[in-house]
Amino acid sequence: MCVPPENGCPPAEPAPDPGLPRHVAIIMDGNGRWAKRRRLPRLRGHEAGAESVIAAVRACGDLGIACLTLYAFSVENWSRPRAEIAGLMALIRRFLREREAELHERRIRLRVIGRMCDLPADVRRALDRVMAETAEYPDRQLVLALSYGGRAEIADAARRIGEAVRAGTLDPRDIDEAAVAARLYAPDVPDPDLMIRTSGELRLSNFLLWQLSYAELFFSEVLWPDFRERHLVEAVEDYRRRQRRFGEVR
Ligand code: FPP
Repeated sequence: MCVPPENGCPPAEPAPDPGLPRHVAIIMDGNGRWAKRRRLPRLRGHEAGAESVIAAVRACGDLGIACLTLYAFSVENWSRPRAEIAGLMALIRRFLREREAELHERRIRLRVIGRMCDLPADVRRALDRVMAETAEYPDRQLVLALSYGGRAEIADAARRIGEAVRAGTLDPRDIDEAAVAARLYAPDVPDPDLMIRTSGELRLSNFLLWQLSYAELFFSEVLWPDFRERHLVEAVEDYRRRQRRFGEVR
């Protein structure tokens, strides 16, 4: 029986929208080309890309998407010119400095996946602090992939499995998909439902290789610095039209 709420009850939470992805992951590509087209240094493209980062965070919040993962710096990116790497690290510092208050206002938990130990100590400290201070927010997450590689993540999980076997806490017969998944960088984060790559490139580039197994993929021609809420809405609308079968016949 459906009991109507008594007077004075808080309004009921809106029902979750089953067509909405819970977790969107984005390969933010095209900063360099955006700058080149304007005859600007590459770093200006990354600066403009950082504006798109906050636009994406806001858009996900407004649409009700619970988790957003952004590929901000790959293990391969360490081979870029030193000045570009330094500029990208400075942008991450700036993002934390200037946007921390907004993460709190929006009750967004910050997470990092990747080899954080590779990052400069001050960036690591700033990330650790904001992660600790936002750790209690239960509903929304922003996951930054930093010094991240999908193969490195799987190799790191395999190393942890080896250590557990050597310590006698894991029986090799118990090594299954769940045992690997439990040793990924953020095992409690659900797999992405939708992966977006900007700038027209059609590659995964070592991003979330394990977690994207059943994700829907959306490739946008838009360069990342131009990516705004309407482009995210377009990807979500496309996602709504997909039939997800997870390998089954439906
Ligand atoms: C790829 O574009 C983008 C990156 C390697 C870096 C992404 C970083 C940001 C968007 C800014 C900082 C991030 C945060 C979280 C504040 P590309 O340089 O490979 O572009 P191209 O393929 O056109 O050269």
